[in-house]
Amino acid sequence: MESRRSPYIKHLFVCVNRRDAGVTCCSHGGGEAIKEKLKAFVKANGLKGKVRVSSSGCMDLCALGPNVMVEPDHRWYSRVTLEEVDRIIEEHLAPLIPGSPVPPSPVRAFLFDLGNVLVRFDHMAAARRIAAHAGMGPEELCRIFFESPLVVDHDEGRISTEEFHQSLKRQIGLRLGYEEFLSVWNDIFTPDPESQALVERLIPSYPCYLISNTNRPHFEHARRICPLLDRLHGRVLSYEVGHLKPHPAIYRRALELAKVPPPEILYVDDREDLIEAGRRLGFQAHRFEGADLLRTELERRGAISTARSERAG
Ligand code: FES
Repeated sequence: MESRRSPYIKHLFVCVNRRDAGVTCCSHGGGEAIKEKLKAFVKANGLKGKVRVSSSGCMDLCALGPNVMVEPDHRWYSRVTLEEVDRIIEEHLAPLIPGSPVPPSPVRAFLFDLGNVLVRFDHMAAARRIAAHAGMGPEELCRIFFESPLVVDHDEGRISTEEFHQSLKRQIGLRLGYEEFLSVWNDIFTPDPESQALVERLIPSYPCYLISNTNRPHFEHARRICPLLDRLHGRVLSYEVGHLKPHPAIYRRALELAKVPPPEILYVDDREDLIEAGRRLGFQAHRFEGADLLRTELERRGAISTARSERAG
């Protein structure tokens, strides 16, 4: 088996399953016509290669058909009519077209997450290395990390990194000294030059802030591999604020810093639950799914110029 990242920014699944005559199903409700309308839009707007529209088998919601599922947005539309396809297009596909209409609310500031937005990170890589010095498997180690309050206490600044290290020695039998532990613990980040380059382009024109669930050694290490972090206009870090996202207090701190109302801030994060939390607080939000899609979003909003206008200039 081979595994690779999907090349599509959006993948739409349209149920075209046909049941016997007289039995409600997506095909009888017009599933094929819906699929064709979506495909025609993709082709006419040059989105082939970015968007895929696929026929799907039964989604087990036949009575609510026709059904359309949009990934990676985790959105499911039922009882879709041909006219309502326009809403799906407007919400999920139109933003992918460079130069598509700018939303009514302008953006005056940006709020960026750190991990898997400005730098990539891999918890399992650290777990594998720490496990080698702790006499347990990386999966078990990850479970302890995520189920015990230890990591939360560290990331919310209630315990120091020295206390965190001592607790790990007790709880998992860690055999690494403090300095050795730090070097393994920190070695989970790699820069993301493409997303950083986009933020570089924003900085001269917009206040850009960092909002991150992190701890002191991780953040200090991220600063070393991503000097851009020191050129941002400010930062809100969970271990300094005492709250992890999605706690409203950490977002409130960001608002105090930015002095801009939430509807005029674009919040960029890779986690859907955090994006939803941001939206509930009134932020405009963009779920980070790669630098290409972020670039398209920033171009659509006129925050950075399009590749075409740059060439023309
Ligand atoms: S026929 Fe479409 S969900 Fe069953």
